[in-house]
Amino acid sequence: MGFKEQIDTSRLPEHIAIIMDGNGRWAKNQGKFRSFGHESGVISVKDIVEGCADIGVKYLTIYAFSTENWNRPIDEVNALMELLIATINNETDTLNKNNIRLNAIGDIASLPQQCIDDLKSAMEKTAGNTTCTLTLALSYSAKWEILEAAKKLALLVQDGKIKVDEIDEAQFSSQLTTVNMPDPELMIRTSGEHRVSNFLLWQMAYSELYFTETLWPDFRREDLFEAIVDYQKRERRFGKISEQLN
Ligand code: FPP
Repeated sequence: MGFKEQIDTSRLPEHIAIIMDGNGRWAKNQGKFRSFGHESGVISVKDIVEGCADIGVKYLTIYAFSTENWNRPIDEVNALMELLIATINNETDTLNKNNIRLNAIGDIASLPQQCIDDLKSAMEKTAGNTTCTLTLALSYSAKWEILEAAKKLALLVQDGKIKVDEIDEAQFSSQLTTVNMPDPELMIRTSGEHRVSNFLLWQMAYSELYFTETLWPDFRREDLFEAIVDYQKRERRFGKISEQLN
């Protein structure tokens, strides 16, 4: 039996977050440039997005470019931005065909203008889609996001719109870039690294973490289904004890 058949569709994670890692090593293993790894990574992105839509995962958030990735060699940064623009433009029709809404989080204003424009246009064209929301984390880091939220809350207090005592978890969450999305129940990181690398730190407070040795360009929907089966075997206690759960 394949992993897909083992999934209990009544207990799917509503939101899956993925740190796509290993593109560079995958390319290097074959004596190719790192950019070839990123290009091949796009094929994985497409397969995973369609896999999520196929089984009914409502939200998929992928870490496509971190705040820290700006520190990579300029040629690689440029190649990633070009790939991003080309992929957004090439895939908008497929997103619509699969009823997938495109969303983006991060410091979008720091991206090249072409990227901002094409992203905005693709988001508008897919805004009415309802099967799954694909969120690209671009120029994103969780510390950046949390600082931005703190600044917005400080302004609301300064302007007399809220009181300090009214700041609770819900109020804080409402200032994050993931507002209106459930927190991810499952976070997957490929390539054998066991870190969360400044990704969705607030939202992953209770996420199940799944690490696989598979490099991102080799990751396919069957690997995603395997991760979901693993997730479904876990007991999520949220600080309680087993006996309290049912
Ligand atoms: C991590 O591998 C991957 C990235 C930093 C970029 C991921 C980007 C893509 C898959 C393509 C663009 C995405 C979209 C959604 C169009 P790495 O370069 O850190 O690999 P390494 O750890 O082996 O060096």
